[in-house]
Amino acid sequence: MAFWNRKKTDSQPGTGEGLDLSRLPRHVGIIMDGNGRWAKKRGLPRTAGHAAGAESFRTIAYYCKDLGIPYLTVYAFSTENWKRPMEEVSAIMNLLQNYLLEALEKMERDGFRVHFFGDLEGLPPKLRDLCLRTLEEGDALDGTRFQVNVCLNYGGRDEILRAAKAWAADVQAGRQTPEALTDELFSRYLDSRGVPDPDLIIRPSGELRLSNFLPWQSAYAEFYFTDVLWPDFGPAVLDQALIDYQRRQRRFGGV
Ligand code: FPP
Repeated sequence: MAFWNRKKTDSQPGTGEGLDLSRLPRHVGIIMDGNGRWAKKRGLPRTAGHAAGAESFRTIAYYCKDLGIPYLTVYAFSTENWKRPMEEVSAIMNLLQNYLLEALEKMERDGFRVHFFGDLEGLPPKLRDLCLRTLEEGDALDGTRFQVNVCLNYGGRDEILRAAKAWAADVQAGRQTPEALTDELFSRYLDSRGVPDPDLIIRPSGELRLSNFLPWQSAYAEFYFTDVLWPDFGPAVLDQALIDYQRRQRRFGGV
């Protein structure tokens, strides 16, 4: 892990100390931000930041699973990220591909499955096929208690538009009526169907924005912001976010 001289304080293993394990969020969302700045600070190419970010993702996913958080959603590649230089886009696609190959090998042994939020049609065919294979093989496993949702070619507005179009097509075909539409029914048209809304959304790197990440699903989410850059984000920082979350009172519009 230390091949780029990581900041040890932030990558230390979490202890879960101070956490009430009976009141963990069911679903945590993370905007993995700050890879580029992390690399720049070290005089490295941005792609090195993404490689280090992919390591943080692995560590945090296993840590969530070990704590007993059933769902983790990460923002890996947005519908806007195609504007980045081709070299950077390919590097991220390669990291994703490597991760999926690894997931295919380890899902059964380690008891997790991977889902995707986003428009997979827009991905390079090889990566899209790998996503579909990972999805299929993961869903066929029995008794997995941890699901990672990777947002890939994802934008929250795009997700809502695709859902609205699918619902409108069902209305046109006579399978739905406008009168029957509720937020629960509409949720079933979203990429996140079947997944509870996120309880906690974390954004590292000091930015205080949602950036089109789960706008529908985050209506009642709690937010945690930290200046730590994503490649430095380790279990100890997640512990802090969870402790902060557990101090809050969630009222969902009530008193
Ligand atoms: C944002 O940081 C990060 C991304 C757009 C890419 C995230 C991708 C990974 C962590 C690697 C692959 C993921 C998995 C799930 C294996 P930035 O580049 O915008 O950082 P900056 O704001 O400092 O420039």
